[in-house]
Amino acid sequence: MKKIGIGADDAALELKETLVEHLEEKGYEVEDYSPPSKEEAKNAGIDYPDVAVEVAEAVARGDHDQAILCCGTGLGMSITANKVPGVRAAQCHDVYSAERAKKSNNAQVLTMGGRVIGPEAAKTVMDAFLESEFGGGSSAPKVDKMIEVDRRYHGTPAS
Ligand code: RB5
Repeated sequence: MKKIGIGADDAALELKETLVEHLEEKGYEVEDYSPPSKEEAKNAGIDYPDVAVEVAEAVARGDHDQAILCCGTGLGMSITANKVPGVRAAQCHDVYSAERAKKSNNAQVLTMGGRVIGPEAAKTVMDAFLESEFGGGSSAPKVDKMIEVDRRYHGTPAS
């Protein structure tokens, strides 16, 4: 099993720590792309787009099959990650959406907001995402259409 990539900005470092602990308890290996502290993020000028692009590029390269990104809302991480060709990131704060993001949309990246969701709910949402699989079937041609849009605007292969 490949390592799970995870990244947070200054607004979600606490949530990210909770999620890393939970992942490790479940036996996942985790690669953390977050700044080590709020202070270091501030001093180095590391914001959510910096973390999102690093993690999304690692997913696009195939270093990770799945990744988790956390910021204040989950929005900035999602918007940025979706700009990297081949990456499908979904902001989810409920179990049903997290399952569907994988089963219907074949998302590789889950984003959540540390100012939106509590730690226990976030763990449950993350588990639902990681434990769901793309169903193929009638969802496959729809995902193919998304990939085609990606190719049209980026002009590069997208998986
Ligand atoms: C803080 O920079 C906040 O704007 C950020 O964490 C995120 O919520 C952006 O989408």
